[in-house]
Parts: sequence; structure tokens; C-alpha cells
Amino acid sequence: MNLTLKVWRQAGPESEGGIHTYQVDGVSEDMSFLEMLDILNEQLNEQGEEPVAFDHDCREGICGSCSLMIDGYAHGPEVTTTCQLHMRSFSDGQTITIEPWRAEAFPVVKDLVVDRGAFDRIIQAGGYISANTGSAPEANSVPAQRDKAMRAFNVATCIGCGACVAACPNGSASLFLGAKITHLGELPQGQPERNQRVLGMTAQHDEEGFGGCTNIGECTAACPKGIPLDVISQLNKDYRTALRAKS
Ligand code: SF4
Ligand code: FES
Repeated sequence: MNLTLKVWRQAGPESEGGIHTYQVDGVSEDMSFLEMLDILNEQLNEQGEEPVAFDHDCREGICGSCSLMIDGYAHGPEVTTTCQLHMRSFSDGQTITIEPWRAEAFPVVKDLVVDRGAFDRIIQAGGYISANTGSAPEANSVPAQRDKAMRAFNVATCIGCGACVAACPNGSASLFLGAKITHLGELPQGQPERNQRVLGMTAQHDEEGFGGCTNIGECTAACPKGIPLDVISQLNKDYRTALRAKS
């Protein structure tokens, strides 16, 4: 496959960015999108040009590092992570536009890399259990309803990639936040800090500059882990309960 890439280049957080056009030839349809970018960077290195900076780590859909807006879609045209997107989803001769996540709370660091430290700070504001649970207990010694345990497992698959924020017209992180609140709120170990958790994490979400949810649903459509929209209902329910308990 021969491709034309229109790539956002930006030297640093304060620099003005812009789209640069590159030609990449001989791309196999079996390559991942990141492997295709590796080819572009080898080409740029050979030409003495600075390679394109982009985030990646596991390349297995686990870590949530890869984060690209591809032709206007978070993670591209398939519902998966950018590292699990393959070039067979594109056509020979296609022009592909590649940009970083666009959200006020995710400032551009360089080229396609954004700072997602806001997610870490939301987790630090309560996305954990501080009770000492000791060494790994026998699984059946902590009673947990099966449906609640399964829901906790399902929403715990959120990898913190930020696609939900990038896809949302409001730049809201409500799906991410809802996944974390639901995950811990479904488990017995998550109960003692449940109220302070939702108040702390929601306050940090707002402080970071993420927008509010207006039930558009682009977040769940873009989520590579299929986090359902109803975690936001759970988030709102927990928030109201915590506010009532506080007053
Ligand atoms: S909810 Fe989905 S899209 Fe949002 S951070 Fe988690 S895995 Fe990524
Ligand atoms: S590089 Fe880890 S999820 Fe894509």
C-alpha cells in the first residue's frame, strides 16, 4: 500500500503546530498502524529529519498509551486501540490525517503526544482502596454477589487511554470516571470510602478542565474496551448519595 499521511507536528507545548504531509510506500496491510508510523520515522531518520513523536508501550491493547486521532476518530475507524488497528482497515492510495487527542485537559507535549497526567491526578483523588487487605486471600473468603463481581471486572477493563475524552464534544472524562467509580463501588472492599471517593474524584475531574456530560454517547462508541454509558448513571447516583450523606 502507498499512503499519504497528513501528520500534526508541534515542537513543544508552547510552539505553534501544523499539518505536515508525508508519503509512505510499501506498507503491508498486515502491519499495525504504529508499525506503519515506525516506517515513516525510519524514513525521516534516513532523511535527517526529526521523527514524529507518538505514545506507545505494550502494543497489545493493554496499557492505554497509544492515543491518536485518525481521520477524526479516536483510535481510528475500528473500535480498538491504535496499536491494535491494522492497515487492512485502509485502502491503497488513501490519505490519512493523524492528530493528537484534542482536549483542554490533555495539552500537547510534542507532535502526537499529549499529557494525560490529569487522569493520574483523578485516580490520586480517590480511585483506590486504602484498607489493608493483607496477602492474596482465598477467592471465596470475601462474599461478593456474582453479578456485582462481573460488573466490576467488566468496567475494570478501562485502560485509561482517553479516547472517551477525545471523542466527546464537551471534552468530558465522565466515562473514565464512571468506570473507576463503578469498579470500586461494586466491590465490598470499596464501600468504606465510597462517598469520599466519588466527591474527591469528581472535584478533581472538574478542576482539571474536563467538560460535563450531556449524554451524547460518543465516548462509549469510541471506547476500545466497550465501557457502557450506564457507568455515568452510576457515577451520578453515587455523587447524589454522597452529597446527601454530607449535608
Ligand atoms: S473509558 Fe474507554 S475510552 Fe475512556 S479511558 Fe477507559 S478504556 Fe479509554
Ligand atoms: S500501546 Fe498499549 S494499549 Fe496501545
